[in-house]
Amino acid sequence: MAAQSESFDVAVVGGGPIGLACAWRAEQRGARAVVIDAGEPGAWHVAAGMLAPVSEAEFGEGSLLQLGLESARRYADFCAELEDPGLRSVGTLVVARDRDEAEALDRLAEFRRGLGLPVERLRPSQARKLEPALAPTVRLALEIEGDHSIDPRKLVAALRNKVTVYDHARATGLLVDGQRVTGVITPEGTVRADQVVIAAGVDVAKLDLPAAARVPVRPVKGQVLRLRDRSGPGLVERTIRGEQAYFVPRGDGRYVLGATMEERGWDTTPTAGGVYELLRDLSELVPGVFELEIEELIAGLRPATPDNLPAIGPGALDGLVWATGHFRNGILLTPVTADLVAAVLAGEPLPDWAAPANPQRFAGVAA
Ligand code: GLY
Repeated sequence: MAAQSESFDVAVVGGGPIGLACAWRAEQRGARAVVIDAGEPGAWHVAAGMLAPVSEAEFGEGSLLQLGLESARRYADFCAELEDPGLRSVGTLVVARDRDEAEALDRLAEFRRGLGLPVERLRPSQARKLEPALAPTVRLALEIEGDHSIDPRKLVAALRNKVTVYDHARATGLLVDGQRVTGVITPEGTVRADQVVIAAGVDVAKLDLPAAARVPVRPVKGQVLRLRDRSGPGLVERTIRGEQAYFVPRGDGRYVLGATMEERGWDTTPTAGGVYELLRDLSELVPGVFELEIEELIAGLRPATPDNLPAIGPGALDGLVWATGHFRNGILLTPVTADLVAAVLAGEPLPDWAAPANPQRFAGVAA
């Protein structure tokens, strides 16, 4: 842990992919940075790692879509600089189980095409030719070749090799001098820094901050099952998404089946009901899921703001920069968040397309 007198250009609170990537990009622009990590893995440890701006694009989420597309575009170069980050450039099939879902999927396909997003409509026989494990009852599928996935645990391991991390150091608050942030407080001592980035996911709610400087974040529980096929990979190649469940192959016989969406405060207990829902929904698309072994049942907390958009950019105190509130999209938005934060740390303004993520929209709300 830091000596009391140690001083940095930038201290980043939170050692998930976003915090690590922010520190890395800041260092690439010449800053001396450190990551302060509590040592308790956040939402990234549970996340399936879909890089899916097109298949996740919903009506009315234009700002999020824009951020997602910007980030997806950056992903290949971002990963090229990392050792074994677990990127899998295989596409996604969005699948309808019945006529109602097929109609909804058609409407969504039209909406996505209207935005110029690539979407291929497949009849059930075409979909089953691509993925023979799909149930014979599926009604329609959309193929989205550009929606890929990454293993977030590998990503974090790769990013940790790029930066200095103070491990098991729980930030409890900020050092503030007048209207300026001057460092981070931990039980073991303080870390002085000219600028502080908060990338602590839901834990921002536990940080001692001046009320007017807060960004409001609430936890949204997600349960996932991590599954394994003893006979190796091949049950499905692509990510399979239904209306509720998604199924992300790692390419080595392991799969992540997610995820529930539950407003249950800080509760992270896996439940029988959660497992039942996930298996019921996915088995109607991929019946072979019942043959897989359960490796892990785990729940995490997505950090959500009141408008479900992230908070990326300057905060209400000088030297304070936010990178939090990424809700369902933390892994996807990691590269674009890191680039935006590094630019803000260097004194540049947020570009217009990132303005909806400006943390200043919460000025006064949080207090
Ligand atoms: N992005 C998927 C989820 O949050 O469950």
